[in-house]
Order: sequence, then structure tokens, then C-alpha cells
Amino acid sequence: MIAPLTGPAAPGPQPGALAATIAINHRLYGNCPALCRTFASGEGGLIQLRGDGALATGPADGEELAGFLHFAGVRALRSDSAAPAGWRPGPPVCQLALTGRLPALCAPAGMWLTEEPSPRLAAGLQPGLTEEERDNLYADLCTRRNHGLGALVTAVEAGGGPLGCAALLLEPDSRTAVLTAVAVTPAARRRGAGRWLVAALCRPYQGWRVLLECASALTAFYAPLGFTPTAQAPRWYRPPEEM
Ligand SMILES: CC(C)(COP(=O)(O)OP(=O)(O)OC[C@H]1O[C@@H](n2cnc3c(N)ncnc32)[C@H](O)[C@@H]1OP(=O)(O)O)[C@@H](O)C(=O)NCCC(=O)NCCS
Repeated sequence: MIAPLTGPAAPGPQPGALAATIAINHRLYGNCPALCRTFASGEGGLIQLRGDGALATGPADGEELAGFLHFAGVRALRSDSAAPAGWRPGPPVCQLALTGRLPALCAPAGMWLTEEPSPRLAAGLQPGLTEEERDNLYADLCTRRNHGLGALVTAVEAGGGPLGCAALLLEPDSRTAVLTAVAVTPAARRRGAGRWLVAALCRPYQGWRVLLECASALTAFYAPLGFTPTAQAPRWYRPPEEM
């Protein structure tokens, strides 16, 4: 049965990327239903609503889940196990974990790192976002960092301003970090900035479980950094006739 979560979203000792993300979001925004609502489902299953998207981890009954998501106005779901009955699967997302040692990478010529977040960068490279959604994403990353539940780096070039960024969501109880918002401006790509940014950001967390989700084409970008695939999970979309 799906019911509002009353206690903390305990992620367990070995959470996957989605379970860790749900726990961090709940810790940060759990008392603000306009930003995030978390529900328990079945034996240890969790469902989290944010805007018209949702995250799910662990078991849930497919029929009940589809009805619940429809009622909540959700259009897209990222789930590592539960499948809503009748929903369309999208291209699978690869789940990766840092299992090797991060390489020591030199800064590409003329670039340096700053912890100053760059609003235009962190959000601007994600396609299809409105100006308001970009502002929200920037505010979200800053909020996480200010609460010790996030870390971020920005790459800057002399005379050119910010050119790349990467962020980690931090779940300190299980020492789990989830990599997110990795982006380099098109003009600065293929000069080593992307891998350098990720290596620099993740280095302080090498003793943690460092996880990420990405499109399968990007596993080649992450492999030399020490990330290996652990699983594939589909994204789920509500059938058009129900929207
Ligand atoms: C993915 C991204 C961050 C890479 O940044 P970058 O600065 O170009 O990365 P690097 O220069 O460090 O790339 C090193 C290597 O990674 C691989 N690589 C880079 N981009 C890749 C991509 N889009 N797909 C597959 N492999 C890629 C290549 O092997 C590249 O080496 P090469 O230039 O010798 O071929 C950048 O393309 C980007 O911002 N893309 C849009 C946002 C995005 O997809 N973010 C990732 C979310 S998980």
C-alpha cells in the first residue's frame, strides 16, 4: 500500500543512486510538500514526487503505482525496480559506480576550478528548461551545498568565464554521493575539461560510494575515470491517452 512516509527516508547501508537521491531530497525538502513529497510502498519501497516527475526505488505494486502516479499528475518516472502498469518504457539509463581509482588529471591549458556556482552553466546546458526551471536548478544546487548535502565545482577560463560544472548530492549517513549536473559548454568540449572536473569533484569522496546515472553512450566518458556499469533502469512515461 502506498502511504505518506512518516519518518526519515533511511537509505540502508548500500543504497543505489535513486535510493540515495530520494533520501537526500527528503532530508532537505521533506517538510516542504510543494517541493518534494515522499511515500512508502511495500517492503522498503519509496516513491518521491517532485513537480510532474517522480523517483521510485524498491518494490511497489504496478497497478497501484500507475493509479497513484496518475492521481498525482506525474508524467515521467525514474525507477530502479517498480514498473507502473501500462506505462511506456523510455531508453534505459545506465547506473554506474566508482570502483576504480580516480586518475590524477592535469587542468587543461588556461582553465582553473572554483567552488562558485555558475547559474547559467549549471542549468543552461540542460536542454528544454524554462528560465524559471533554470533558476530553480541553480537554487537547488546552492541549497544542497549550503546544507552539507551537496558539493560542486565550476571550471573557468581566463577571459572566457565559466565553461563547465559538475555537482555531487551527498548522503552522509551511508557515505553515498550521486554525481549530477555534469556539463561543459559546446565550444569547450573535447579538451579534457569534463573528465578533469569530475575527477576533481569526486576525489575527496573516494572512500564513499560514488554513483551516477547516464545515457549508455556516456559510459565511454566515465570508464577511464574508474566508473563501471552496475545496472540498467528504464525511464517510464505515462501513456499519452492518460495525459
Ligand atoms: C559529456 C560532457 C560533459 C563531456 O565534456 P568534455 O569536456 O567534452 O569531456 P572531455 O574532453 O573530458 O572528454 C574526454 C573523452 O570522453 C569521451 N566523451 C566526451 N564526450 C562524450 C560524449 N558525449 N559521448 C561519449 N563519449 C564522450 C571521449 O572519448 C573524449 O575523448 P576524445 O575527445 O579524445 O574523443 C559534454 O559533452 C557535455 O556537457 N554534454 C552535455 C551534457 C551531458 O550529457 N552531461 C552528462 C550527463 S551524465
